[in-house]
Amino acid sequence: MSASITDPRLDGQALSRIVYDADQIARRVRQLGADLTAAYPEGELLVLGLLKGSFIFLGDLVRQIARPLQVDFLVAASYGDAKTSSGDVRLVYDAGTKLEGKHILLVEDIVDSGRTLTRMMDLLSQRRPRSVEICALLHKRVAAHLSYPVRFVGFEAPNEFLVGYGLDHAEDFRHLPYIASLQ
Ligand code: IMP
Ligand code: MG
Repeated sequence: MSASITDPRLDGQALSRIVYDADQIARRVRQLGADLTAAYPEGELLVLGLLKGSFIFLGDLVRQIARPLQVDFLVAASYGDAKTSSGDVRLVYDAGTKLEGKHILLVEDIVDSGRTLTRMMDLLSQRRPRSVEICALLHKRVAAHLSYPVRFVGFEAPNEFLVGYGLDHAEDFRHLPYIASLQ
């Protein structure tokens, strides 16, 4: 019998173990915020969150960036099953903010195959931003080749299906204050 997490938020749904607890996440997000503050000395910064998965991470992250910035969102949808993204990534909501001439920081929850990011970066690059960088909370390092480097990474994640802190499985678990493995 394998152990599982006891949490009233789970209502009987089994998660095997906590991979990053709330304190670990908070510490890492503070460091990332300091790195980002140092990395952007001048120019307009637009933090673009890729929804829905980045909503909690982005909320915590922007409060740790000590410089002026603006926030907007993109919503992408990929047609796969609950655990794998298909190659077909579609933009279902586009940011209203002008990107031209701005530093764009694309914030993603997790990089798995990298397809979502590649598609979004292709799109953003066409809008003549001053720069585009990626900040991902988690990186599985499983993609054989990524067209765009991920400059800011929260954690090198195990190759397991992770949920919580914004990440879902079939829309469940996004509200967990920690990141857990479904296996
Ligand atoms: P990619 O396009 O394969 O890199 O997948 C990226 C998207 O798939 C993420 O933004 C997530 O929404 C989802 N995803 C990939 N791996 C996981 C995981 O372990 N847990 C939850 N969602 C995941
Ligand atoms: Mg998802």
